Amino acid sequence: MRSLLSLVPLALLARSAYGISWSLILGNDNTWVQQKYTVTVPPPPPAGVTDGPWYFWCGLQPSGGGVIQPVLGWKTSENNIINPGASFPHVWAMNLWSLPWNYGQDGAPTTQESAGIWADQGAQIASTVTWENGQWYQQANVLNGQAAGQTVEMYTPASYFLGDNASGDNTPMTVCESELDGGQTSQWDFSVTFTDIYFEAASSDGVESLCASAIDHSDGNGYISFTGFSMIDNKTCYWSSITLSPQ
Ligand SMILES: *[C@@H]1O[C@H](CO)[C@@H](O)[C@H](O)[C@H]1NC(C)=O
Ligand SMILES: *[C@@H]1O[C@H](CO)[C@@H](O)[C@H](O)[C@H]1NC(C)=O
Repeated sequence: MRSLLSLVPLALLARSAYGISWSLILGNDNTWVQQKYTVTVPPPPPAGVTDGPWYFWCGLQPSGGGVIQPVLGWKTSENNIINPGASFPHVWAMNLWSLPWNYGQDGAPTTQESAGIWADQGAQIASTVTWENGQWYQQANVLNGQAAGQTVEMYTPASYFLGDNASGDNTPMTVCESELDGGQTSQWDFSVTFTDIYFEAASSDGVESLCASAIDHSDGNGYISFTGFSMIDNKTCYWSSITLSPQ
């Protein structure tokens, strides 16, 4: 069983992990206020891989650190699952995380983690992260497959994302990442696809040009590709798919 510390290698420690990390960072004090996407549960890691966890996610990040993120994970939520008796192989679970901007410092709030949902290969899971009524709300909902209808949700106070002089919705960064931990990350051999991705900002300032700058690329450890970019309105970017693939 892993310690709490080993459960928290998400964005804060992303540099220790292997994979692709892509971000869009707003300027001029504009911030992201909503994220929505659907992720399709991939195949299991290759049979010989026993070391993890492996995480796939898009999330919103304050400028000072921390992250708010629905996470599809392998070897992450075994201890706290809402459908522990699911009759398919227990490989991938979706859960919701919030790490405060000052995670790990004295007096920092604790990390929040929702219960997980086992979902079977090929199932689609819709998730939202929304700034509303002065707090953050996250939800994940399995749309189809054997866990269809299972839902988790979580509220996070604005105080998690203070710091850097900002208030409330201090989340200028959106990040998508394959975050692979452990000693067998080079064996990652499947793609993970997000569909119907929306990122909505507080204002239109800089949004369209920033989103339009997203291009298919490698970061040396993984590859990201995009299809179907459009602006829903002048502050909301949309892609029909974003795919994270091994190098
Ligand atoms: C707040 O921002 C101002 C101006 O950028 C800066 O001088 C000050 O140090 C910041 N304070 C904190 C606590 O970050
Ligand atoms: C963005 O769209 C809103 C609503 O249609 C409009 O009121 C606003 O003027 C637009 N902003 C810019 C900078 O075009």
